[in-house]
Amino acid sequence: MPANSVDRAGNTAAFRAEIVDFVGDPAMLGDAALRHHADGLLVVRGGKVANAGPAVALLPTLPRDTPVVDYRGKLILPGFVDTHLHYAQTDIIASYGAQLLEWLERYTFAEEARFADPIHAAEVAGFFVQELLRNGTTTALVFATTHATSVEAIFAAAEAESMRLIAGKVLTDRHVPEAVRDTADGGYEASKALIGRWHGRGRLGYAVTPRFAPASTERQLELCGRLLDEHPGVFLQSHVAENRNEIAWVAELFPWSRSYLDVYDHYGLLRERAVYAHCIHLDATDRGRMAATGAAMAFCPTSNLFLGSGLFDAQAAREAGVRVGIGTDVGGGTSFSMLRTLDEAYKVSQLAGQKLSPLRAFYLATLGGAASLYLDDRIGNFDAGKEADFVVLDPAATPLLVRRLARAETLVERLFALMVLGDDRAIYATHVLGRAAWARDHHLSRS
Ligand code: GUN
Ligand code: ZN
Repeated sequence: MPANSVDRAGNTAAFRAEIVDFVGDPAMLGDAALRHHADGLLVVRGGKVANAGPAVALLPTLPRDTPVVDYRGKLILPGFVDTHLHYAQTDIIASYGAQLLEWLERYTFAEEARFADPIHAAEVAGFFVQELLRNGTTTALVFATTHATSVEAIFAAAEAESMRLIAGKVLTDRHVPEAVRDTADGGYEASKALIGRWHGRGRLGYAVTPRFAPASTERQLELCGRLLDEHPGVFLQSHVAENRNEIAWVAELFPWSRSYLDVYDHYGLLRERAVYAHCIHLDATDRGRMAATGAAMAFCPTSNLFLGSGLFDAQAAREAGVRVGIGTDVGGGTSFSMLRTLDEAYKVSQLAGQKLSPLRAFYLATLGGAASLYLDDRIGNFDAGKEADFVVLDPAATPLLVRRLARAETLVERLFALMVLGDDRAIYATHVLGRAAWARDHHLSRS
């Protein structure tokens, strides 16, 4: 059998396009945080980045017969990292007229109860993973539901795409309907079993997932700390300081606490690999504790606007030195698209009198998100040896983008137009470990 080109090239492939990635936070490093090749080449070998640089320099160095995919006219960025969303809320996205606590009661718990059924869970998980890929998201930190079946379903769907995904069973043993409630000890045992089965399997990771402090007993929060101590490397995800009524409730339930965040601190749940969604109504002491412990914040602008929760203070988080990622928070959030989410992040910052620069926005959606998850040694930019997860953006996705970009003079201007005007239509392709896991035109021609 004649050797095919992939074998002869040692499983190497190359992708030619304009290439953009980050080596650090533009808020700290300015333009030095940016790497940009106007006519670039991304070389992938065995699913990892072998090299990224100017096409003119790298093309002659490729092994003979290396396939070169011509994405000229497009932009290649590292795959987006979504640091907070709920796959089981896919079907209640865009539910009308309620703020957090009422929204949970009216829509969310009833929907999540359906995920006791493995067939339903598998169907939604399959759609959800495709929707992430269709939006250029290659890594996500995901809430399942309180049912172990729901965790099995999302991990299986991600594994089928070789996607880097972290998820966990929701832990909640009070103040929620019985159909979505567990017990402190039952939740602990179920989490332990799921960690054993899934954490570190391929590209998957497990997150201990207390829903939020008011829906867990003190015993359950204590056992969350024990799970983390017993399983180094496992993640934690939860919600904090999202809504004023929620905060008042926490103050009643934990009268000894200094603040909402202090409840988690008390149980040892502020630490590296812990990601807290929202973090809107925090004070300087809270932010200081997050920075000191290495916990991260997920900024979820579409959700914070949709549920009327408030405005995240990105500047205060940065000044305190806290890790920040971007979360779509589907289905309190209103879009799977990180581009739409960056647009809303910009607007939230405007309302707070702050400017979110396009470079920082795309940093947060890529390397910043990776650093929030302590995965920046594996993903987040195109350093040699990193996993080759990337998104191919189409600057000509819509007539309006074409017109606006015709006026843009710099890369920064073009990135800004893409985040303000772009959405799923601007995702030309999404590659996971080098492989095209989703391609817009291929999809369009099939449907
Ligand atoms: N707080 C507790 N549960 C949830 C949830 O499902 N969504 C949001 N946005 N906040 C929460
Ligand atoms: Zn959430």
